[in-house]
Amino acid sequence: FISAPHAGPEAGLEIRDGAVLVSAGGVIEKCDWSVRSAEEARAVFGVGEEVGVRTLGEGEGNGFWFPGFVDTHIHAPQYPNTGIFGQSTLLDWLETYTFPLESSLGNPNSPLYTSHPTHNAPTDPLTRAKQIYRRVISRTLASGTTTAAYYATIHVEATNALADLALELGQRALIGRVCMDEARTCPEYYRDESTEVSMANSRACVEHCRTLDPSGERIKPILTPRFAPSCQLSTLTALARLAKQEHLMVQTHISETTSEIEMVRRMFPDSDSYAAVYDDAGLLGEKTILAHAVHLSKEERALVRERKAKVAHCPASNSALGSGYCPVRTLLEEGIDVGLGTDVSGGFSLSVLEAVRQAYLVSRTVAYHAGGNTKYNIGLAEGLHLATVGGAKVVGMEGRMGAFREGMLWDVQEVGLGRVDGNGKGESSAVDLFGWEFWEEKVAKWVWNGDDRNVKRVWIGGRLVHGQD
Ligand code: GUN
Ligand code: FE
Repeated sequence: FISAPHAGPEAGLEIRDGAVLVSAGGVIEKCDWSVRSAEEARAVFGVGEEVGVRTLGEGEGNGFWFPGFVDTHIHAPQYPNTGIFGQSTLLDWLETYTFPLESSLGNPNSPLYTSHPTHNAPTDPLTRAKQIYRRVISRTLASGTTTAAYYATIHVEATNALADLALELGQRALIGRVCMDEARTCPEYYRDESTEVSMANSRACVEHCRTLDPSGERIKPILTPRFAPSCQLSTLTALARLAKQEHLMVQTHISETTSEIEMVRRMFPDSDSYAAVYDDAGLLGEKTILAHAVHLSKEERALVRERKAKVAHCPASNSALGSGYCPVRTLLEEGIDVGLGTDVSGGFSLSVLEAVRQAYLVSRTVAYHAGGNTKYNIGLAEGLHLATVGGAKVVGMEGRMGAFREGMLWDVQEVGLGRVDGNGKGESSAVDLFGWEFWEEKVAKWVWNGDDRNVKRVWIGGRLVHGQD
């Protein structure tokens, strides 16, 4: 059992042999770190043959259990565009690549079909949405993502289909219908006509999620104003009212690029800052997830901290779109909760493991520009912490996942690094072990070179959702 339950730059991994008893409902009932065999586990937990036992370890493909990843920021409809961003930056990327693709999930006249003549224009955009969403969920599950905070599109039916599919395939998901209705920034082919329409459509999606899963443990609705420039002020304030009335989570983007910040300054002259726009509307609270937060001022960070809003750090996207370097250490030191996001398809990979790598690399650059001050480094254990425990805080599941502790959910990936074989043959694996590595070293090799071939099985709430039983 390997996990990264402790925070901070000095915190290491927790690497333990032992046994865990999981209830049929998927909750960890007991942990015992002295047990070394299936027989001992049965004896210690007092269970007989009616309870299945699964063993794992060295000699069994170098397997270990690791908490499932939390992707705190991912755009499900953008998945077909991963890797397609050219040399664009945020605002032209949205217009060139993103709005055409997103609109095609609900609008049969989407410009995507004219720009890509060989594209099979669907008679039914909903069918297309379902195809894309099934693939996103399957592929993220296969990469160890057990919980994802999704942005969908503006379309109610397609957004509800995303919720249906997440429930069917077993992924914990926050489902956000994207709100955009500001005519100055949103194309006519892809926007809500008014605040009233925005709100009615948002309510419809909230209702749908709550009907699917009244507990909100698996499928949770989340209000999703795309970002300040794409929403009318009346929509931002109406969403804030709805969030308060219905105790809903909120997600949006903040301070990703300098040209976006300039645009916000022009469009919202009455607010002191980008963060203040959201705060003035009433949208900043402890159930709010802010993506990027690359360029927040000290005053804005203090406000975010004061309101207990969370940050989704999206390093792959920030580097790909040239948005800048998020000062993660500064956010953490100032007391802001941070998780990792892939930000597909601003981010080029749906793998949270890739986000861990990119968070590490970006932090080295931040440290370099701070005169080589190593306190800015986000190392492997801390990156994995943000990908699990940090993410759990961001999505409102603090203390429920991210470690092997009694009472926590069995949201777990079984990682296998491949068998050692002196001839370089054996299972296909991106990780090549030589047989002498310590577990810390194996984990380092996994983080830097691992991929979905190393994710052998995934359980969510005890249900096997990926891999062989
Ligand atoms: N800002 C507004 N919309 C988006 C989006 O889809 N992706 C990213 N990365 N930033 C945004
Ligand atoms: Fe995003």
